[in-house]
Amino acid sequence: MTSLEQVDPDIAKALRAEAERQNRNLELIASENFVSEAVLEAMGSVLTNKYAEGYPGRRYYGGCEIVDIAESLAIARAKELFGAEHANVQPHSGAQANMAVFFTLLKPGDTVLGPNLSHGGHLTAGSPVNYSGKFYSIVAYGVRRDTELIDLDQVRDLARRHRPKLIIAGGSAFPRAIDFKPFGEIAGEVGAALMADIAHPAGLVAAGLHPSPVGVADFVTTTTHKTLRGPRGGMVMCRQAHAAALDKTVMPGVQGGPLMHIIAAKAVAFREAQLPEWRAYQQQVVRNATALASALLARGYRLVSGGTDTHLLLVDLTPTGLTGKDAQEALDRAWITVNKNTIPYETRSPMVTSGIRIGTPAVTTRGMAEPEMAEIARLIDRILGKLGDASVEASVRGEVQELTARFPLYPERLG
Ligand SMILES: Cc1ncc(COP(=O)(O)O)c(C=O)c1O
Repeated sequence: MTSLEQVDPDIAKALRAEAERQNRNLELIASENFVSEAVLEAMGSVLTNKYAEGYPGRRYYGGCEIVDIAESLAIARAKELFGAEHANVQPHSGAQANMAVFFTLLKPGDTVLGPNLSHGGHLTAGSPVNYSGKFYSIVAYGVRRDTELIDLDQVRDLARRHRPKLIIAGGSAFPRAIDFKPFGEIAGEVGAALMADIAHPAGLVAAGLHPSPVGVADFVTTTTHKTLRGPRGGMVMCRQAHAAALDKTVMPGVQGGPLMHIIAAKAVAFREAQLPEWRAYQQQVVRNATALASALLARGYRLVSGGTDTHLLLVDLTPTGLTGKDAQEALDRAWITVNKNTIPYETRSPMVTSGIRIGTPAVTTRGMAEPEMAEIARLIDRILGKLGDASVEASVRGEVQELTARFPLYPERLG
């Protein structure tokens, strides 16, 4: 019996059930992934016990000489991986990484030009329900109706008209690669700073499969748990000139003690990213997304922007008459996990939506490749083609179980 089973059988049972669910289901949420046992080991370590406010070599507390090793390695590896001059690996999450940049650059009331949430942006780029939308004056740009690609003419026009202090590029549901150079030019022209939020494509950026904003944007923020396949957390990179101001904003500005166990796990994930198989993994993530997009298009589905260059696709369900909510719930009953998602020029509420977002990072980590993507498209189509049919759902559950059993996940935990 493990210590957890002895101390808290309820939580031990929940942990086991979640490992079973992850192993059994087809995980297609674009922002999720499965970390390695090495990353899990670092996260579940004694480093959680250590208070280490400050930075390596300049902490407020004693006894930090060992955790300094972990954070210094995380910083050095992050800088090398992305070619950045400076990295702060302490943000607890992507939202806090973005907050650190806002608080470094802006005063309340300043103008920010960012991507519209329903066109693919993230809450932290100015949604009225987020601090970014409450404390700053937000101007939003979107994608063009015809191409469903970012409307750079609109970005330029809005930037000239509103003279923002900060422009944000990047979001949660852009299936196409983002070229950061035109954003840099527009920011330069109007005297704004540019923040690139690469939370989603960070792994592809590090592998050279997506344009990099490093050297173009003043600040680059990311999460470490999506395509990057590290522990849940955030990170900010910037030029040396902004380093001291950024570090001061993260701590003491918006955070207290860093999560040293998570920072050690970030270092482990960055170490994994230095291995040749990691680049091959990122290539397969993109190949799988392309294969899944082709298979869904062949079955008559409409994809926002017509396809993908990245790890994710956005299915516009409007022609099927289904809502994103209904599709997500039906797929969930068949053990296929996706999320409902707004589409550009959405007419439904964010709780209902007209789309679903599908991503390949997690299934690729399990070893699935193009043939399995064709299978997945067929299974999705079976469910969406007969929405709510309990016998189809039961039959697809069986097929999902057979498919996932061929690609075991965390076998040593479930053995
Ligand atoms: C583009 C983008 N930025 C920031 C975040 C926030 O990250 P977190 O959930 O770690 O706060 C997300 C999360 O989905 C995201 O997609």
